[in-house]
Amino acid sequence: MFRDLIDDLDSYSVEPDMLLDVPFVPTDDGVIEAMLNLGEVGPTDLLYDLGSGDGRILVAAARDRDTRGVGVEIDPLRIADAFDYAGHSRVEYLVDFVEESIFTADFSDATVVTLYLLDSINVQLRPRLLRDLSPGTRIISHAFDMGDWKADELLDFSGVKIYKWIVPAQVAGVWEWDSCDGTPYRVELQQKYQEITGRAWVADQTAELKSAKLYGASLELTIQQSGTTSASGFTLSFENKDIQSIVEDE
Ligand SMILES: C[S@@+](CC[C@H](N)C(=O)[O-])C[C@H]1O[C@@H](n2cnc3c(N)ncnc32)[C@H](O)[C@@H]1O
Repeated sequence: MFRDLIDDLDSYSVEPDMLLDVPFVPTDDGVIEAMLNLGEVGPTDLLYDLGSGDGRILVAAARDRDTRGVGVEIDPLRIADAFDYAGHSRVEYLVDFVEESIFTADFSDATVVTLYLLDSINVQLRPRLLRDLSPGTRIISHAFDMGDWKADELLDFSGVKIYKWIVPAQVAGVWEWDSCDGTPYRVELQQKYQEITGRAWVADQTAELKSAKLYGASLELTIQQSGTTSASGFTLSFENKDIQSIVEDE
């Protein structure tokens, strides 16, 4: 099992002088399919596997879903295996493998990222995942969590945990807009990852922010004016840390 292997430093690398942050332990085919399903991976995605080993996650996504993929792997022998495997599977035109550390490689154009690393490595990667990936990018981790960034979904696949996070837009701050009937709305939002709290005002009167749900770049707000029982709902779409569009619920 993975957690036993990581105590055995000799098993980390096929090359004696190479320092790996995580040993090579391949993901099973069934778990790969469950990861790709949870990530809703499809032909329009660009999938990065950070620590790609023999390339099996990317080859499966390319072969079964026509997904383009990039593997980042520090061990050159695993890179060679991955190119071989992609060739035998006839998907070499869809995948590439880069010999580089996951801590320096550029993966900012990913739409989905897969990880089979360690809790501690996920936490080290977390600032870059949040800063460099576009809002809405899915991150799928086999077995390992991400510190205090709570997963948006957690799947138990025959006893194996698979985590899913959706990279949240930066929405903290003060936002003001008018509803369709011209009523001014204002919210002041705080953010911890995808969790949003804050205060609201309607026509300069204190109101109740009944709910605030952030899914990638899309923020759903429900606001209730004091003295009324009905609430108004808005979906704010963010781009480049600003509101791009606002849709009011019917
Ligand atoms: C547990 S294996 C996962 C392999 C593959 N992703 C899978 O799920 O089948 C982790 C991989 O990360 C690679 N690795 C370890 N440290 C790395 C680093 N700093 N940069 C890139 N790859 C690394 C190892 O060589 C190994 O192939």
